[in-house]
Amino acid sequence: MGISDLHVVHEDNRRIVEELRPDDPADWLIVAGDVGERLADIEWSLKTLSERYAQVVWAPGNHELWTVPKDPVQLRGEARYRRLVEVCRGLGVHTPEDPYPVWSGPGGPVVVAPLFVLYDYTFRTSTAATKEQSLAQAYDAGVVCTDEMLLHPDPYPTRDAWCRARVAETERRLAAVDPELPTVLVNHFPLVRHPTDVLRYPEFAQWCGTELTADWHTRFRAAAVVYGHLHIPRTTYYNGVRFVEVSIGYPREWRNNPRHPGKVARQILPAPS
Ligand SMILES: [Fe+2]
Ligand SMILES: [Fe+2]
Repeated sequence: MGISDLHVVHEDNRRIVEELRPDDPADWLIVAGDVGERLADIEWSLKTLSERYAQVVWAPGNHELWTVPKDPVQLRGEARYRRLVEVCRGLGVHTPEDPYPVWSGPGGPVVVAPLFVLYDYTFRTSTAATKEQSLAQAYDAGVVCTDEMLLHPDPYPTRDAWCRARVAETERRLAAVDPELPTVLVNHFPLVRHPTDVLRYPEFAQWCGTELTADWHTRFRAAAVVYGHLHIPRTTYYNGVRFVEVSIGYPREWRNNPRHPGKVARQILPAPS
């Protein structure tokens, strides 16, 4: 099962975590990022879920990487990410830094690979030739991701430099996966650009992924790709590979929204017919 963008800072979303239960005690839960911002909230959520599901697999969202004034934990960038990984390990939750687990239940065996590759401003509009132009367009349009203020890349000079380092390291890990096994690739950001084509504000796409992962779903034998971040829950296919956007989103997005799939985890394997 997969879910993302729980955003538990909102009380109504916290209740979703409190009420979430597996259909079957053997179910795994993929949590594809944006659980929350404060470390204590993230830990509470993952602890709650890890006590119910046979296994929880987590990939960080941009919100987990924010350093917010309200959080007593003021770590930034890589150090914050490493702390999150430590917290997960204490709960038995799989992170992108652990050996990739193999799901052997219905639809398996499949390697479930949580990834952390961030974004590098390459999903920019056709009228922007560089990252600088792209950012300038976003500031002009008044569509600027809060990451610019709160997601610090330390010790990397920029978020895109951090992204490139993560891509190189993640590629190395994925290339070492048993070539006989398919994968489920889990990343907060979509691995391909197409899902961002339907964004209301096209300038926002530059904070949504990197062109460097455009062929990963075919190259690394994905049976499915699980992502969130866009708050546009849906299933689409690219090169015949199922991409599932599993977000819950903010209360104003799911409340009274007949097109929202509901406050539930979405089935990843076996593929729903
Ligand atoms: Fe989100
Ligand atoms: Fe996000």
